[in-house]
Amino acid sequence: MALYVEGLSKGVANGGMAQFQEMMRQQLESSMHAELEKLLDTSTGAEREIQPYDKIAARGLPDNVADSLNKLVVVKLNGGLGTSMGCKGPKSLISVRNENTFLDLTVQQIEHLNKTYNTDVPLVLMNSFNTDEDTKKILQKYTHHRVKIHTFNQSRYPRINKESLLPVSTNLSMTGQNSEGWYPPGHGDIYASFHNSGLLDQLIAQGKEYIFVSNIDNLGATVDLHILHHLVSQPNGKRCEFVMEVTDKTRADVKGGTLIQYEGKLRLLEIAQVPKAHVDEFKSVSKFKIFNTNNLWISLAAIKRLQEQKAIDMEIIVNPKTLDGGQNVVQLETAVGAAIKSFDNALGINVPRSRFLPVKTTSDLLLVMSNLYSLDAGSLTMSPKREFPTTPHVKLGSSFTKVQEYLTRFESIPDMLELDHLTVSGDVTFGKNVSLKGTVIIIANHGDRIDIPAGSMLENKIVSGNLRI
Ligand code: UTP
Repeated sequence: MALYVEGLSKGVANGGMAQFQEMMRQQLESSMHAELEKLLDTSTGAEREIQPYDKIAARGLPDNVADSLNKLVVVKLNGGLGTSMGCKGPKSLISVRNENTFLDLTVQQIEHLNKTYNTDVPLVLMNSFNTDEDTKKILQKYTHHRVKIHTFNQSRYPRINKESLLPVSTNLSMTGQNSEGWYPPGHGDIYASFHNSGLLDQLIAQGKEYIFVSNIDNLGATVDLHILHHLVSQPNGKRCEFVMEVTDKTRADVKGGTLIQYEGKLRLLEIAQVPKAHVDEFKSVSKFKIFNTNNLWISLAAIKRLQEQKAIDMEIIVNPKTLDGGQNVVQLETAVGAAIKSFDNALGINVPRSRFLPVKTTSDLLLVMSNLYSLDAGSLTMSPKREFPTTPHVKLGSSFTKVQEYLTRFESIPDMLELDHLTVSGDVTFGKNVSLKGTVIIIANHGDRIDIPAGSMLENKIVSGNLRI
């Protein structure tokens, strides 16, 4: 697949459009599936290379935690927009808890570390052309915080028309209509863009050794001192260059990528790479027990070496899309975790679920805004008052999809400490101090509206139609 990218750029550079189209066609119909059939036939085999977090943590921490921290850089993937939650601008600027945005919480976490240990852990944001301008404007507000913040931009690639296989955009403008002609090519772009920005070299020169990379919308992705210590304490020559934090799969996470062992290397297997006939097998919780949280620890020196040798190999994910004007396009993307196979001594660590707390929808947002979590120095922790370690299953209907509308529907966020399952559909509002327990289902039929009165307590209850409680 690496060959393909090289061929792609050569094809366009040489002006060989017909050749380029042919290459696109061949690649999109490629025989990659045949290789994956082989992969799925082997057992997942990765168990040996995946260590339980408790085993890593049991080794304890040394006195010189600060020395390890000074070798660390925190990187947040900040290329995405908040469109799926109905917001304009970077997703990282959405308020998630007590008026704090994802970015605020990240800065607070790192600042807390730097103050506690008297260290200098910098924050690096990988922006895309979609998020760079707005993010940079906001960064001014952290000038007096004890965190040095750097940014670099990932690449932009041309969207390709699905039928003609030609680029959608005819010029390089990113404004107006032509902005639809471009896309950020997935977080796998981090290696090349980080290297090309010069920031990688700058950080290595400052004595930094590892980056901790994660999705900015994963509120569980805090710096873990045990994993960091494990990495920096390995003898030279045996240094683990790449750690992927994985966690146990539940029926709700069947689409997440998993780790497999193939030809002596750990590999990430994503659902998009799996032939249709094997998708159920891929989703099986018993065969593929863990999934990738996208919390990754990667050696800076190894990134530099592999980039310079052009040795980072990532599978290309073909992402079909329909633009606003109805045009069908394809985007070719890569995922940061897919590079695991290119690094030496790669390791999976099976971490507690609490390290995976992504906010993708307003249903996720409701959980993190509620009393199920408490906020301390930018980190969310599950309330000790919750009797079960699992989070409730929340499904809010389409009237709640956009953050603005979702917020108007709650006078205050209900007490959810004893909730197991909540489904809400239709035109529903919640008064102040509502308490939800067990399984609660509220369905307002089309044309009806249900207002849950202030102070109500709903326990194992179905509210529907014109019924009032
Ligand atoms: P997404 O939110 O788009 O992906 O990006 P996802 O499906 O939930 O998760 P993955 O892709 O399987 O991990 C995850 C993170 O990556 C950033 C987004 O801003 C978000 O923080 N991202 C994504 C980039 O920075 N650049 C990209 O090109 C794509």
